[in-house]
Amino acid sequence: MEKLKDIKEAAVRMALHCGKIQMESFRTQDIGIDTKSNVYDVVTKVDKACEDYLLTEIARLYPTHSVLGEETGQHLHADSDWAWVVDPLDGTNSYSQGLPVFCVSIGVTYKGEGVVGVVYAPYLDELYTAVKGEGAWFGKGGGANYELCIMNYELKRLHVSSKTCLKECVVASGFPYDKATNPINNIREVSTIIPQVRGFRRMGSAAYDLCCTAMGTIDAYWEYNLNPWDVCAGQLIVQEAGGIVIPLCDNRKISIIAGPEALVKELETVINA
Ligand code: IPD
Ligand code: CA
Ligand code: CA
Repeated sequence: MEKLKDIKEAAVRMALHCGKIQMESFRTQDIGIDTKSNVYDVVTKVDKACEDYLLTEIARLYPTHSVLGEETGQHLHADSDWAWVVDPLDGTNSYSQGLPVFCVSIGVTYKGEGVVGVVYAPYLDELYTAVKGEGAWFGKGGGANYELCIMNYELKRLHVSSKTCLKECVVASGFPYDKATNPINNIREVSTIIPQVRGFRRMGSAAYDLCCTAMGTIDAYWEYNLNPWDVCAGQLIVQEAGGIVIPLCDNRKISIIAGPEALVKELETVINA
């Protein structure tokens, strides 16, 4: 059995390196924007450079492991129980605009279950990690310096919000790229929820939304139509911070509500009303 601690450390090193790649081109003319499924769905050459680096590094360190990457799809080792599920740049729309909330998200599953999650937001220099059964942790101040980050991030263990009443909450969500054509686009839900909460945030990165939920800086989060690479790491980080992640509906890919149990149940009731 591979050691989860070693896998986490490898994932942290990779995440910090992706952060470096992202920062080198951030707010330059050199990001090479293109579109994918439609005009709202952007990709840059930085997404591709980070994914290329991740694929190379995972293959070098763990040649028998499978990988699912947003930009290149599945790289399957049929006889492996291990899979790395990576979003090389989550928050590409913000990144391409020069807005600071973007990150790399690296999740690792064993027999289909999330066991390691690492998210690094390089502009903010925020590192979030979790290992199954060992809690979720936050580090800041290391920059791309791995050793310094390790020293710092052991300092803060993450816990989801302790609030129990939605009216006092600041919640986050997002909108799917097919929002113009699919009626399950979260607009009804957001307009129902906004009057019932203290605040609403749309930060533009599902992985970062989940990390904020783990930290309690966002009290609860929901979103429709996500993909495995958006949630693999963040979901484990929320669960290891004492929260729950439940399905929101079954006909929009991965649709979830995340946060402390009381708030998740309250949000579920409001959304399904
Ligand atoms: C997107 C972000 C966004 C969410 C979208 C995702 P990308 O990922 O996480 O917050 O609303 O559904 O696709 O395209 O920036 O990797
Ligand atoms: Ca994403
Ligand atoms: Ca992405």
